[in-house]
Amino acid sequence: MPVSTDFDLYDPAFLADPYPFYAWLRAEAPVLRLRDPDVWLLSRHEDVHAALRSPEKFSSADGVAFGRQGGAGSLIATDAPDHTRLRRVLSQQFTPRSIARLEHEVGAVAATLLDGVAGLDSFDFMDLVGAQLPTRVIGNYLGIDPEGWRDYKRWSEMLIEISWARSADAQFAAVAQATIMEVAGFFAGQMAQRRTTPAEDLIGRLVTAADRDSTLTDDEVLNFCSLLMLAGNVTTSSALAHAVLLLIEHPHQRAALREDPDLIPQAIEEIVRFESPVQGFVRTLTQDVELHGERLAAGEQVLLSFASANRDEDAFDDAAVFDITRKRSATVAFGAGPHFCLGAWLARLELSQAITAMLPLMDDWQLAPDEPVTRVPNPAFRDVASLRLIRR
Ligand code: HEM
Repeated sequence: MPVSTDFDLYDPAFLADPYPFYAWLRAEAPVLRLRDPDVWLLSRHEDVHAALRSPEKFSSADGVAFGRQGGAGSLIATDAPDHTRLRRVLSQQFTPRSIARLEHEVGAVAATLLDGVAGLDSFDFMDLVGAQLPTRVIGNYLGIDPEGWRDYKRWSEMLIEISWARSADAQFAAVAQATIMEVAGFFAGQMAQRRTTPAEDLIGRLVTAADRDSTLTDDEVLNFCSLLMLAGNVTTSSALAHAVLLLIEHPHQRAALREDPDLIPQAIEEIVRFESPVQGFVRTLTQDVELHGERLAAGEQVLLSFASANRDEDAFDDAAVFDITRKRSATVAFGAGPHFCLGAWLARLELSQAITAMLPLMDDWQLAPDEPVTRVPNPAFRDVASLRLIRR
């Protein structure tokens, strides 16, 4: 495999199927220095997992994207002690118990969306289900109008593009700046409303927390809101798309799942292992580190490939095989260590409700013949733009 420091993480052929490249890297070059973006790439499960659990060396404070963009106080882009303080506030709102209470509501959203496609001969799963479910669910939870889901989706996509776009021209920069202002204005307005008319939704509870706790600022609450809108959006819709793709491609496993719904939690872990919605995030070194004979210097950036770690044969038997009966999963699809996905229980709930509602319909679904899947080209997210299905 022709791999060098010139390897292009934005190459469409690589993004279409990154896994052979990662297999080669794990075997031959577990620490590879790339030139553009200037970043070290870690591909083995053991190394990725260890880095995630060593935030004192692998810092998030310069952000999780290329180019040390900083994080302006956002939870995902801070280290302890700020991270610990912010995470404590938000994690109270995302305990397994508080998420379990949403089961009925999430199930109802999933059922309504799937009712909408039940009779259709041809449809785009992303447009009618995959993109809507996570955006509506987080909208409900925050306490904003779920009918605004197209705006939240557009904002999330733009905020992701701002962080990950390879090059930006002036026109893009203007649209990006306008979006940042629009999102900030929207949530500032929502917070102000809660102060005049108190509400028991998530934004209301966070505003109350800021009013009581002098260490929690309004900017931090605003950052929570936009992070929550963004973080659960593209990720969960990617997992939903891959649930459909993988279960259509594997009819025996689909039948096994219908037979025994107790397998659904395992199936979800396997879907996000096999097609990791977050393919990798970046850390910045706070000190020099020696790894596999290479010397990584303080200040340099490291891309932790979750996608590669999740296909590592040293961590998973037959890692290249999709198998919903896999018992123990050491997946890093939701990260590990202090930044472990705060929304993992919510994502699992959405996926289990959607899979339960989809299973009875899926025997009738097949992929549309011409180019059923289009992807958003991005080395950090395995996002699906459209997934065209037709009725058998
Ligand atoms: C963090 C993946 C859904 C909220 C993370 C991280 C990963 C991840 C890999 C770690 C980031 C890092 O280490 O730098 C996923 C996947 C999802 C999903 C694969 C769906 C299948 C959600 C949902 C929410 C959410 C539904 C909430 C609405 C967050 C937040 C963080 C995070 C707030 C930052 C936590 C911190 O920095 O302490 N997610 N996520 N995620 N996720 Fe998720």
